[in-house]
Amino acid sequence: MKVLSGIQPSGRLHIGNYFGATSQHIALQAEHDCFYFIADYHALTSNPTAADMVRYTLDAAIDYIALGLDTNKTVFWRQSQVPEVTELAWLLSCVTPVGLLQRCVSFKDKVAQGMSPNHGLFAYPVLQAADILLYKADLVPVGADQKQHIEVARDIAGRFNNSYGQVFTVPAERIIERTAVVPGTDGRKMSKSYNNTIEIFEPEKSIRKKVMRIVTDSVPVDKPKDPDKCNVFALLKLVAPRDELADWQQKYRAGGAAYSQAKQRLAELLIEYFKPFRQKRAELEKNTDSVRQILAEGAGRARAVAAETLKQARKAVGLGA
Ligand code: ADP
Ligand code: TRP
Repeated sequence: MKVLSGIQPSGRLHIGNYFGATSQHIALQAEHDCFYFIADYHALTSNPTAADMVRYTLDAAIDYIALGLDTNKTVFWRQSQVPEVTELAWLLSCVTPVGLLQRCVSFKDKVAQGMSPNHGLFAYPVLQAADILLYKADLVPVGADQKQHIEVARDIAGRFNNSYGQVFTVPAERIIERTAVVPGTDGRKMSKSYNNTIEIFEPEKSIRKKVMRIVTDSVPVDKPKDPDKCNVFALLKLVAPRDELADWQQKYRAGGAAYSQAKQRLAELLIEYFKPFRQKRAELEKNTDSVRQILAEGAGRARAVAAETLKQARKAVGLGA
């Protein structure tokens, strides 16, 4: 099966990103042909500075490679290095009813949060449809927040195929089952927008500091606590070995578990869990040319697929030779 997904370059990855998305992207490589790209054209809709765009794109690439992306097998590239996608987005725009885009909640949400509604933001789902259809993806693993965009892509593929003949694969509707939402240090969903993240690769000292600040309730040490209501336990579940987790669960319920103890252990486990990836990241950071090289090679492989699909689409609408 052909699997495709895009990652917006918007800063260093945090552990919510990892357990919610990245780890699943990495795992899918074992069984499928994976196409993953850094969605830099999409990121432009929030108007980052040029310097941030360069830095965040490189950061996203380094993080993904360090976390286990198999660059020999998986095709990994920067969206903007295959500009065919913008031409396809135009062809798709012309079969996309404005009403379909007006119904997209992600646009409405971003505007409600105060983002300036530029045309790129409005047309965002069409570009995303072009990403998916250009590579004829069968499966698109994304978070629940992206479900509507995949439905839009399916809708657009259907409209195009109906009007011009069968060109596109309608991607299978499959939202990857995710681990429960990973809580941030304040107990809300971990998110860059809430400033409550623990980044995967931040200095160990700062991981410890942030873990110690995780919000807990004020049940005294000796009193029973409900592990399922505890932010520290929710994070322990992601990284603690099964036996140890069972012990913590029991200690919480019986009383006698101090949150500070659980936090210290959580910090150790988090640092341990990501240690091998951290070493790899440090090596990549020292050799960013190799990362650029990987992305350029990926773009070459992606472009071969893209050019073929675009040719078919151009021909279908009467723009062929
Ligand atoms: P952020 O909210 O920090 O801006 P993104 O929206 O860029 O994160 O998310 C990138 C991916 O990581 C998405 O697939 C999203 O579903 C997943 N993700 C982000 N935060 C969490 C979280 N706290 N728990 C689980 N998955 C998450
Ligand atoms: N919009 C997606 C996000 O914010 C990123 C993305 C862009 C994407 N193009 C895609 C995801 C194509 C899947 C397929 O997370």
